[in-house]
Amino acid sequence: MPVTPSGNKGVRTMCESRCPSMLAIGVGLVSFAMASLAVAESVLVFGGTGNTGSRIVRHLVDAGHDVTVFVRPTSNRSRLAGLAVDYAVGDVHDRGSVDGAFDQSSPDVVIATMQSRPDQSPHGDPEIHLIGQAERAGSKHFIYLSSVGAGDDTEAQRSRYPDINYDRFARVLKEKGRVEEALMASSVGYTIIRSGAILVERGVEPPPGTGRAYFTEDQDVLGPITYDDLAVLMARCVSAPGCLNKIYHATDDTLGPEYNHWRCRRFAVTGDLASECDHLRPVGLP
Ligand SMILES: NC(=O)c1ccc[n+]([C@@H]2O[C@H](COP(=O)([O-])OP(=O)(O)OC[C@H]3O[C@@H](n4cnc5c(N)ncnc54)[C@H](OP(=O)(O)O)[C@@H]3O)[C@@H](O)[C@H]2O)c1
Repeated sequence: MPVTPSGNKGVRTMCESRCPSMLAIGVGLVSFAMASLAVAESVLVFGGTGNTGSRIVRHLVDAGHDVTVFVRPTSNRSRLAGLAVDYAVGDVHDRGSVDGAFDQSSPDVVIATMQSRPDQSPHGDPEIHLIGQAERAGSKHFIYLSSVGAGDDTEAQRSRYPDINYDRFARVLKEKGRVEEALMASSVGYTIIRSGAILVERGVEPPPGTGRAYFTEDQDVLGPITYDDLAVLMARCVSAPGCLNKIYHATDDTLGPEYNHWRCRRFAVTGDLASECDHLRPVGLP
């Protein structure tokens, strides 16, 4: 059941190769989502200063939602400059500050797009605490940015994609899997987005959105997506009935060359350059 950032076009692209019957469902979902934008929701965003989160926040503000961004005292808010948002200051490792943010914003919708650092992870217990607070606040929808391979999905993904070194991400995938389980068991409506490869390279401006990405419930899918398109799709799911209680994989069939480049760079960084990446060696990959 795909959700696309640009409506019919992206749905048609996917359905040409995969699933003719999805067109009507996809368009229906988009209509649902667009209709939902007429309702201004109170949205509390964790990770809103980041690459994904800041783009989502921009779309939410444009759509007229009442947005509160949970920031750390040290967070760089420059990506949100000029946007009409409220801030709640704290750290997800400080439960009191999290509880205060829920009291402050009484969110209808919670979005979490936080990123782990080697020394400290916001995933696992801190995010499970967010779910408990969403229940306490009576939130109706929690949108969680997870990863392909999270939780129980890991073993299945290993066999589907043997060239991906899931061991490198084992801790994060396990933590995100626990969060997914807690969310599905909670009383809050959920949308779990599992990204496969968000196209990003250190020090390089991320590629612009194609408008052709989509969410699919096909759990076998592992594909690329841009930050721009991921944010459009996630923002569009806010309170959209069609997105409720779904696990989506996010992907974009039109990003083949960019995806290969991304994968080859990743292999190169791990010193495990696949033969299919040989053609990139002369252009100076590390
Ligand atoms: N599959 C892929 O290829 C891929 C690639 C990239 C990302 N991802 C996933 O996508 C998600 C978002 O990535 P991103 O690139 O948008 O992340 P990002 O730009 O690094 O942003 C991370 C956000 O999380 C916030 N955060 C981190 N720790 C926090 C804490 N303890 N308390 C409160 N806020 C905290 C950061 O706040 P500060 O501003 O204070 O740092 C920032 O707003 C992550 O879950 C990541 O795993 C996947």
